[in-house]
Amino acid sequence: MQLTLKSVSKVFPGGAGGAPVTALEDIAFTVASGEFVAVLGPSGCGKSTLLEIIAGLSSPSAGEILLGDELVSSPSSHVSVVFQEDSTFPWRTVADNVGFGLQMRGVRKAEREHAVARAIELVGLSGFEGRYPHQLSGGMRQRVAIARTLVLNPAVMLMDEPFGALDEQTRFVIGEELLRIWDATGCTIFFVTHSLHEAVQLADRIVVLSARPGRVKRIFENHLPRPRVETEDPRAYAELMAGLRDAIGLTQAATRVKA
Ligand SMILES: Nc1ncnc2c1ncn2[C@@H]1O[C@H](COP(=O)(O)OP(=O)(O)OP(=O)(O)O)[C@@H](O)[C@H]1O
Ligand SMILES: [Mg+2]
Repeated sequence: MQLTLKSVSKVFPGGAGGAPVTALEDIAFTVASGEFVAVLGPSGCGKSTLLEIIAGLSSPSAGEILLGDELVSSPSSHVSVVFQEDSTFPWRTVADNVGFGLQMRGVRKAEREHAVARAIELVGLSGFEGRYPHQLSGGMRQRVAIARTLVLNPAVMLMDEPFGALDEQTRFVIGEELLRIWDATGCTIFFVTHSLHEAVQLADRIVVLSARPGRVKRIFENHLPRPRVETEDPRAYAELMAGLRDAIGLTQAATRVKA
């Protein structure tokens, strides 16, 4: 399902006599059906705000979001969100966490069990169905969060730094798993990250936002062959990374530090 962002702006009113904050300004791009797009930008540039607007959890101050041909004004059953923070229910087992959304939708138990088993298998957690979140590692809990999203069979997955709390190696491994799932389901993915390496590993297109107010600074096409590890094609990898660093302003910052 295609996602179209048309001149989206967001201004938060200033509380307690403070000035209003313009978080996003004139954001426009399209995520094609089945595409994997990463949004990269400095802290506070409005990435989460943008994701919430796309999810229909918050409304833009100007502009609009289209999901297919439909205007987004409230959360859609075609869209699922994976948040950064651990959002598993500690009192529910893995299987009951994953089945929660289906239960809410009123899906019958037998049907639910089948879908839950499949989603758990997809994220590589078979055998852990009866465990509770505190009996799992952070990476496994994030897999539960992904399975809980997948089970709803969303056309669009919105992910807000879902692997931010994980170490680099675990992050890479789960990233590869996400790519496999994306390949198997054909869903559209909008993925927010701070990490240049993660954006390069995962996305076909990388949208770089400027510091607040967030504007689209540049959009990079990523044609590197998968798996995208530095050693596959070091020159092309280095070139893309250098372009991203430059767009984000990391090269100027490094020069300033040196001077
Ligand atoms: N509900 C709100 N009320 C007022 N201002 C807000 C609100 N939510 C976000 N902001 C402001 O909007 C800006 C963008 O916030 P947002 O959380 O979208 O940034 P972000 O890019 O996701 O940052 P990070 O990378 O740190 O998660 C920030 O300056 C923040 O203070
Ligand atoms: Mg954020």
